[in-house]
Amino acid sequence: MTVYVLVGTQWGDEGKGKITDILAEGTDYVVRYQGGNNAGHTVCVGESTFKLHLIPSGILYDSCCSVIANGVVLDPAVILQEMETLRAQGISVNPSKLKISSIANVILPLHRQLDSKQEAKRHQEKIGTTGKGIGPAYMHKVARTGIRVQDLLKKETLKKKLLRQNWGEVYSESDYDIDQVVDEYHGYGMQLKPYVVDSSLFINEAINAGKSVIMEGAQGTLLDVDHGTYPYVTSSNPVAGAACVGAGVGPHKIEKVIGVTKAYLTRVGEGPFTTELHDEFGELLRKKGGEFGTTTGRPRRCGWLDLVVLKYAIRVNGITEICLTKLDVLDGLESIKVCTHYKTVDGELLDEFPLDLDVYSSCEPVYEALPGWSEDISQMTDFSELPASAKAYVEYIASYTGVQIKMVSVGTRRRQTIHLITR
Ligand code: GDP
Ligand code: IMO
Ligand code: MG
Repeated sequence: MTVYVLVGTQWGDEGKGKITDILAEGTDYVVRYQGGNNAGHTVCVGESTFKLHLIPSGILYDSCCSVIANGVVLDPAVILQEMETLRAQGISVNPSKLKISSIANVILPLHRQLDSKQEAKRHQEKIGTTGKGIGPAYMHKVARTGIRVQDLLKKETLKKKLLRQNWGEVYSESDYDIDQVVDEYHGYGMQLKPYVVDSSLFINEAINAGKSVIMEGAQGTLLDVDHGTYPYVTSSNPVAGAACVGAGVGPHKIEKVIGVTKAYLTRVGEGPFTTELHDEFGELLRKKGGEFGTTTGRPRRCGWLDLVVLKYAIRVNGITEICLTKLDVLDGLESIKVCTHYKTVDGELLDEFPLDLDVYSSCEPVYEALPGWSEDISQMTDFSELPASAKAYVEYIASYTGVQIKMVSVGTRRRQTIHLITR
């Protein structure tokens, strides 16, 4: 039995999709436990590029079963479209390869409307949401007025529950027709029916049968609604502990927690970001790293690696090993900075992430400059091949955090991956 949780240690887009794809080879199940189609994971295999939003990255292997568990908010039209797109790209998507929790909450058109309406009202304090209806869907889940996947299968139940929603909040009476929504969403439900299961039962039976499972987090630790830079966060818990709630699996079943960390830092959307670069280095990272959102196409904000953030992510997730991605993007830099501390406005040095957003927002980063390298590392497949400064960069991160680095990714492709164990 191997049950791993994989989480992003920053503000999302760390390359979780690529790492899950690497680990999924030989893994029996990949499970998504939170978030929705706000996520965007790009996975490159051979000449094909796959863009996944809801379906776990394990779907690319025929031997792997993908599970969308109860903690996810599911937009049924989006998942049906994603299934079609994958099929058109030659990937088989069928009920033996994909399972959907019967109790995952559903994203309705109302939630998307509310998302943009709430964002428009925020004026100075915009979050920069993806506009997919994520926040309002979780809001209704917690308010106990949500619609679950199993409700889509029963027309009368669906109508009764849809009538409970406050449609008048965003639509005028003439703008929506409840019977049309019932027909449309019941129709989606019937298309999804062959995939719908009790996902907790399904996953636990697999674990008890000795199968291997990866629980794949979307977003990242600093976007977590509890542990992130609230209110500039998403509305779910990407942290590892949430995998238990979001998949209905007991904590003692989890063996390892893998943190995926980009060799520099990006953020998309609003909110403070201490190591953000507004100069030519930021532009260079964006261009070389292709830092444009998979879901919204927005340019990502770029900056130097923040080890205070990483140390915090290691603590709140209980990370046991790190996969470092996009090291190749740093090729050709004379010097690379890493943030080791924050300096408060009072001149105090902090090495723990401050939970008060006012403090965090006003901190200055304290950097250590490490030597860069001029070589192209993107075709290197063994740690020993890396230039000395690239090795030193990886080892610096391992030694600062005290956590082993198990994998270094140097390109988008599967073969552009170095497996190693640092001290
Ligand atoms: P995720 O949301 O964490 O899965 O990350 P995204 O897929 O949104 O963003 C990561 C991007 O970086 C994708 O376009 C990947 O193809 C790409 N990527 C992943 N690993 C590497 C790497 O090691 N080097 C380079 N250059 N690109 C990478
Ligand atoms: P992956 O899985 C990066 C950000 C949005 C916004 C905030 C809230 O690809 O790493 P939401 O629509 O969730 O209410 O938006 O969270 N955000 C992400 N940023 N990667 C993601 O997912 C994200 N999902 C949400 O930009 O700032
Ligand atoms: Mg992404």
